[in-house]
Amino acid sequence: MDRRRRRTGALAGLALAAAAASIAAAEIAQPLQALHWVTPDADPVASFASQPTECLAPPADPAAAQAVEVGRAAFRTPLLLGGQAARVSLTCESCHRAGRGNPEFLFPGASGAPGTADVTLSLFSSHRGNGVHDPRPIPDLSGPRDRLKVAPDQLPAFIRGLIVEEFDGREPPPAVLAGLAAYVRALSPAACPADAREPLRPAGLLADARRALTAADRAYAAGDRPTAILMIAAARARLGLIDERYKALPAEVARLRAADARLTALQQAMREGRADARASLAAWLRDSRRLDAALAARESESLFNPARLKAAANRRLPPKPT
Ligand code: HEC
Repeated sequence: MDRRRRRTGALAGLALAAAAASIAAAEIAQPLQALHWVTPDADPVASFASQPTECLAPPADPAAAQAVEVGRAAFRTPLLLGGQAARVSLTCESCHRAGRGNPEFLFPGASGAPGTADVTLSLFSSHRGNGVHDPRPIPDLSGPRDRLKVAPDQLPAFIRGLIVEEFDGREPPPAVLAGLAAYVRALSPAACPADAREPLRPAGLLADARRALTAADRAYAAGDRPTAILMIAAARARLGLIDERYKALPAEVARLRAADARLTALQQAMREGRADARASLAAWLRDSRRLDAALAARESESLFNPARLKAAANRRLPPKPT
């Protein structure tokens, strides 16, 4: 009861903040949700037809590698965060794109200059809001270690504070928290690919979904159902990001929705501890190759095509002030 009242307060806060920020773009339906969280003059093609490359050095040890994969998927899962952030599908990755920064990030009421955010804002949290607008630059988590503030051994406590206190999320499963810390530790400037950016493609998002499901399978095999279920949520969120760019293509949307429905059923099977869950997961992984092919065949007609993304986004941009 008490908790619900606080949440309602936060919701009202968001509406007020959005109005006060008078960022017209945020009130206009955008073809991609992430376009709501960048400066109105951000170039949609420069920001969202490609993404920063990830500077990840995966550990050789299988258990350590599994922890990093769990963290990598959790980092990209809206359900990890609670309150307002979950409602608008914000993830760790919305601010730290591919584990890096996001120089164009602008969240009505939560940002100061572009690329900053106030992670102690009461908008996101019923616990830690300090009532002071205190936006800080979003750090590149794969930047040089000596520029980061949080020592590697402090990461689990820091990240737990972010999730539970600043973003009002539920207590994450222990393996997810350990995984997020392991993922952040495995980011390093030495692991950055030569190219700073790479094209964003449905095949890449589906590959992320497969990685999350592989981590789910290992967690389930180890008896960790809560982690496995969250990993499936991570895979579903990746399908959601593909879906929003195929809206004009009903046959592909139907395929994506069917694939998602199978993952919902898989989550239920894992919740019940069913023995056939792993076989269903393996079947999904196999069938995802056909989904890959179907998506690739129509990719140029989707908003993964930079020209189409540009046209869709431009149609919705607010008129420039004169
Ligand atoms: C709304 C944007 C936003 C989201 C979402 C977000 N962060 Fe951050 N993060 C920031 C900002 C801003 C800072 C810098 C805070 C400061 O300087 O006090 C930060 C700092 C950090 C740091 C400390 C870096 C250092 O200097 O050592 C880590 C680690 C981190 N975030 C991980 C995460 C993880 C994991 C998640 C998801 C659970 C997440 N962040 C979600 C904006 C965000």
